[in-house]
Amino acid sequence: MRYPTDWLEDLRARADILSVVSEYVQLKQKGRSYWGLCPFHGEKTASFKVDPEHGLYYCFGCKAGGTVFDFVMGMERMDFSEAVRYLADKFHVTLPDAPDDAREEERRTLRENILRLNREAAMFFHKTLYTPEGAHVLEYLHGRGLDDRTIRLFGIGASLNRWDALTKHLEAQGASVELLAQAGLTVRKEERAFDMFRNRAMFPIIDARGSVLGFGGRALGDAQPKYLNTADTPAFNKRHNVYAANLLRKTKNLKRVLLVEGYMDVVSLVSHGIEGVAATLGTSLTEEQAKLLSRYAPEIWAAYDGDSAGQNAILRAIGIFDAAGIPCRVLVIPGGQDPDEFIRDHGKEAFEALKPMSGVLYRMLRARDGLDLSDEEGRAKYAMASAEILRSVKQPVELENLLKRLSVETGYSREVLLQQIGIAPEKQPPSERRREVPVIRPAAAMQADAGSRAERTLLELMCFGLVPEGIVSEDKFENRDNRWLAQQLLAGKKPDALLVTTEDEARRKLLLEILSSEPKVAQDEAMQMVAECLECMRREWIEKRIAALKAEMSGAEPERKGSLLKEIMMLTNEKKSLGPGRKE
Ligand code: UTP
Ligand code: MN
Repeated sequence: MRYPTDWLEDLRARADILSVVSEYVQLKQKGRSYWGLCPFHGEKTASFKVDPEHGLYYCFGCKAGGTVFDFVMGMERMDFSEAVRYLADKFHVTLPDAPDDAREEERRTLRENILRLNREAAMFFHKTLYTPEGAHVLEYLHGRGLDDRTIRLFGIGASLNRWDALTKHLEAQGASVELLAQAGLTVRKEERAFDMFRNRAMFPIIDARGSVLGFGGRALGDAQPKYLNTADTPAFNKRHNVYAANLLRKTKNLKRVLLVEGYMDVVSLVSHGIEGVAATLGTSLTEEQAKLLSRYAPEIWAAYDGDSAGQNAILRAIGIFDAAGIPCRVLVIPGGQDPDEFIRDHGKEAFEALKPMSGVLYRMLRARDGLDLSDEEGRAKYAMASAEILRSVKQPVELENLLKRLSVETGYSREVLLQQIGIAPEKQPPSERRREVPVIRPAAAMQADAGSRAERTLLELMCFGLVPEGIVSEDKFENRDNRWLAQQLLAGKKPDALLVTTEDEARRKLLLEILSSEPKVAQDEAMQMVAECLECMRREWIEKRIAALKAEMSGAEPERKGSLLKEIMMLTNEKKSLGPGRKE
């Protein structure tokens, strides 16, 4: 939902950024700001600054920064709306009224009740594991190489080889069969109610907030299905969740998230000391899951089973990551094994030594499957299929590497392959044309830079309230984002408040950079600075205008030529009156 701006500002004022950040970072006061080690990247000297006056933080190392909302989003891996709710709850600010209050309230209560039952069930399963009746399940888990520490970490349990042990247990605690059925824990058939999960090793599915959403139950022998999963309930949507999100959230500074297929793969990898592993929940990867995973690391490595089903699932997953713009790579497990089997057989080091490959290379390898490259036809088929795949490669360096590889494999020249892709090999430009290539003179480049620096300085002065009213107007700004910011400031918007409402990345970056800079001048010097900035920007504008007028001159009618000339003269005079301008 969208929150009213005033309400957001009120929440931001009350959600004291110092106390929020202090929960994660040790801060030391220096002047008006507070400094500490940046929690978003590893560092040994403090380059992370909190400015309580404006309610902002900024890291001079990794350039992370923003308001208290951004901080919570970053630390707790929440989206904006979640961070808002989290802070509202923490600082006792009531949420603005949702439209359909009563029904929303009802749904929330139902969700909470189901989650409570699930938690009870998880504890029941876990306890059962260590009773005589659960001993065979514990034996099964130990037999699969899991120690008690791992079993506890994942809260793994046992459902009993009885009809209704859990149902009876939860009913005794006051739960209705109706609710138990809604939670997917109990199945009703005619007049009878019996447990959904019986005689299985139980893997609770826990989300990032620690709620138990449901279960995956592994059969102990060859019983079917091998895994029984909680169906979607009012508190659980498989498409939006992954297995082991609770552990992902706890691991900081992950380089990659490892996406595997099965519960056991996650548990087994983690027990061997591999961090940042998650799995889908018995269905193929969804876009929502891809986005959820992408919160935790800059890229995702898919390490699916080595069998053909797993390998086909990777192709689908790559498609989903690509479509969502999420960087992904593929870790192929050798020998047709799944990650659990591989790490049990070969150990952690061997697993960590596996090199991930790009999605494109993986697609090429798959295109080669079943083709005989010693045969002309096989090579041609492979080259054509790969050309199709390579069309999507945007990075020239990556394309070049893959082309070389393909050329070696197929014997076709780089030029032929480029043609097959549909990219004409670049032709040598004729020598007369080469002379026409415009040369950017260093002086001109420097002045262009001076203009944009002047705009930036002027914006800084405006942000710090050092520019008196009526002196600056937004149309003096050439750069689109600068003009936008000037307009907002002139309309009386506060720069830190803008940071809360602005979603555009470039604009947020602009705001952050400005807000994290200290005003370089004292009040009495400010006017002089403003004048210099405006002068510099005007000079810049005049130069561009003159260039444009001159360009128009060459093809213009005599009359038009006269007026163009007049304007050029006027501008040249104005420019002279501005003086040569300072280099710095
Ligand atoms: P696999 O069949 O690859 O099982 O299913 P696995 O992970 O290797 O399990 P173990 O090692 O034999 O215990 C991978 C995932 O597919 C889902 C589960 O989420 C499982 O973890 N699955 C599989 C089901 O949901 N139901 C099934 O019957 C089988
Ligand atoms: Mn397995």
